Amino acid sequence: LNQSAGALEATLALLKPDILANPAFVDSIINDIQNSGMKIALRKQVFWTQGQAEQFYAEHRRRFFFDRLVKYMTSGPVEAIALSGPNVISWWRQKMGATRPAQMRMTNPTCLRARYGLTDTRNSFHGSDSVESAKRELVFVFGQPAYKQIIL
Ligand code: TYD
Ligand code: MG
Repeated sequence: LNQSAGALEATLALLKPDILANPAFVDSIINDIQNSGMKIALRKQVFWTQGQAEQFYAEHRRRFFFDRLVKYMTSGPVEAIALSGPNVISWWRQKMGATRPAQMRMTNPTCLRARYGLTDTRNSFHGSDSVESAKRELVFVFGQPAYKQIIL
């Protein structure tokens, strides 16, 4: 067993509505991922209802930004991407950068949120933050049978 290779993981990446409003952005980001060596196991465009967005972000239900987050996530379609690869959860989190695009433009200008993000809420990307949330989120979007295929 080669420990240094890192654990094989799966994660949910979302391209949020402002990215889908510009198809050239989608193509460029997908190309980037494909050139990285990480695998796109599944892709699906979704258009969430208010209820689905509220369920996906349930952990934030009492935060000040919850209503505008749900409004944004239901303002248009979202591209859901199941990624798999060694340490892909933290790989995608690093590629996105942290939550706030304006802060990222100062500290990490090459990350995706620095390049594409508009505001703290309209920050263009989502990535699962742990093995457990990746499982919950992938099952939420793609269903349990598909999840089992992804992690095989
Ligand atoms: P969070 O899970 O903290 O961030 P991340 O997406 O980086 O894991 O928050 C979920 C989403 O909620 C975040 O992507 C955008 C929105 N949000 C705001 O609109 N304002 C905020 O101050 C925070 C922390 C999050
Ligand atoms: Mg989060």
